[in-house]
Amino acid sequence: MITSAKAATARPEPKTLKALNEALVADAPLVPGATKWVLGEGPIRSPIAFVGEQPGDQEDLQGRPFVGPAGRLLDRAMVEAGIARDRSYFTNAVKYFKFAQRGKRRIHQRPTAGEVRHYRWWPMKELEFVEPRIVVALGATAVLALSGKALSIARTRGEARFDGHLGFITVHPSSLVRIPAEDDRRRAYADFVADLRQIRSLSERDGAARAAAG
Ligand code: URA
Repeated sequence: MITSAKAATARPEPKTLKALNEALVADAPLVPGATKWVLGEGPIRSPIAFVGEQPGDQEDLQGRPFVGPAGRLLDRAMVEAGIARDRSYFTNAVKYFKFAQRGKRRIHQRPTAGEVRHYRWWPMKELEFVEPRIVVALGATAVLALSGKALSIARTRGEARFDGHLGFITVHPSSLVRIPAEDDRRRAYADFVADLRQIRSLSERDGAARAAAG
């Protein structure tokens, strides 16, 4: 049986992140083929939660988010921006790898808007348990999951709000990996690091405001 957001809300409310994840993996994914569900990873109350699109080939094999090429680029940019990976939370709009088999290769297929809308209740609930200071949408699929709207990254890039969470919209690191010209790639990477620095300072500002409020 597949759980839509509507069906999920009809269930007893999960009391913990663990219970939420158990409820999610109890159902068959909408699209079959992935090796495993790739759940969110990182400490509860991480200052920053990153939300991506879906696990890729490496994430599917290892069962962890952001461990493939896009994750390595994100790691490098986070180090440059002074954000600690082990104090951050990582999750995805859709938690299984969708692909088309071409010979031995598994080619990434973007989840449809319908699939993202079907699953968006789950990351929103997950963030209620994680309680980050700031939620970062990496790319358009994450923006759709977090806001329920199909928005252009170019027009909305920067500070945002997602259902009461302080948010930030930026590009997906895999879009940087795919830029063919080195100069363009370098510029786009520098802009991404600048976004991460701003995200860090917004999370620090929010942390200081919460501390002052007691
Ligand atoms: N891309 C994503 O959006 N998420 C991952 O976990 C890996 C790559």
